[in-house]
Amino acid sequence: MDHEQSFASYEQDALKSIEAAATADALEAARIEFLGKKQGRLKDLQGALGSVPVDQKPAVGKRFNEIKDRVTAAWEQKKLMLESAPKKAAGSEFDVTLPGAGLSLGKLHPLTQTIEEFKDIMARLGFESEEGPEVEDEWHNFVALNIPEDHPARNPLDNFYLSVASTVTKEARLLRSQTSTVQIRTMEQRQPPIRIVSVGRVYRPDQIDATHHMMFHQMEGLMVGPDVTMASLKTVLQLFATAYLGENVPVRFRPSFFPFTEPSVEFDVRRGNGWLELGGAGMVDPNVLSACGYDPEKVSGFAFGLGIARFCMMRHGIDDIRHFYENELRFLQQF
Ligand code: DAH
Repeated sequence: MDHEQSFASYEQDALKSIEAAATADALEAARIEFLGKKQGRLKDLQGALGSVPVDQKPAVGKRFNEIKDRVTAAWEQKKLMLESAPKKAAGSEFDVTLPGAGLSLGKLHPLTQTIEEFKDIMARLGFESEEGPEVEDEWHNFVALNIPEDHPARNPLDNFYLSVASTVTKEARLLRSQTSTVQIRTMEQRQPPIRIVSVGRVYRPDQIDATHHMMFHQMEGLMVGPDVTMASLKTVLQLFATAYLGENVPVRFRPSFFPFTEPSVEFDVRRGNGWLELGGAGMVDPNVLSACGYDPEKVSGFAFGLGIARFCMMRHGIDDIRHFYENELRFLQQF
């Protein structure tokens, strides 16, 4: 067999073997057999070059190198192919490299989105955000808010009491029934001027229906300073409603009563042919200012408490407050 023949049969066998290699092990075996440096078919070919007559050596050597390069290139290409091919997890038909069905990214709950937007709007009006505890004492939930002992709002059946006052517990504790508690906590700790909002959950043992739940969210607002007036209150609530519900949304203030404000109003916005009640507000009662150590002769304030869900329901046309708490993905994914 002359050199050309052995070159050709080497190349043919090597390429066939590389092509047939379906695993990294088979490819490695082909490398050892056809490209091995210490022994193997390439080494044999190289050895045979010694007997080539001197004048043919350059040409035969060149052929040898060409063939070696071609086989090496084929081997490297196959190696890359095997490495990038889909890999099955050991012992299973599961291809770990195939694209998956993909979980969609989570989203913020519609109420959380509303809360963030509320805080944002109020921050633009200069109101900082404060937090208060959900487990409260009677002082912050009632007494300091000018709600006397015999007031129906303090009925144990209308509140989630956690403990009653005793020599051991000292004070009764309950889940707060309103975020107005945070007004008291803020005024106890800070001096005017004050401009805060506080958003959070409140709890009442109400019958659950399309517009009531035992747990819901309120945004409390409080502004106290030397000359805070009813006009300031109306301006802030009007600006807030416009910012959330849109330009030209008609708002209405109706005389009302709350123990902690005097005078008090109910705040409504237009919906269809009627009005939707969104919360209560008023000028902070002098008794409340005094309970927090302020002098009602020197400062005045306004306060408001708005239901969060109502706004969100109004904007999105949601007809039942229970949707917010049922964790039905088809509902939640719409927001
Ligand atoms: N706390 C009242 C409620 O839960 C709402 C409220 C009314 C808050 C008037 C206020 C206010 O701050 O001034 O029904």
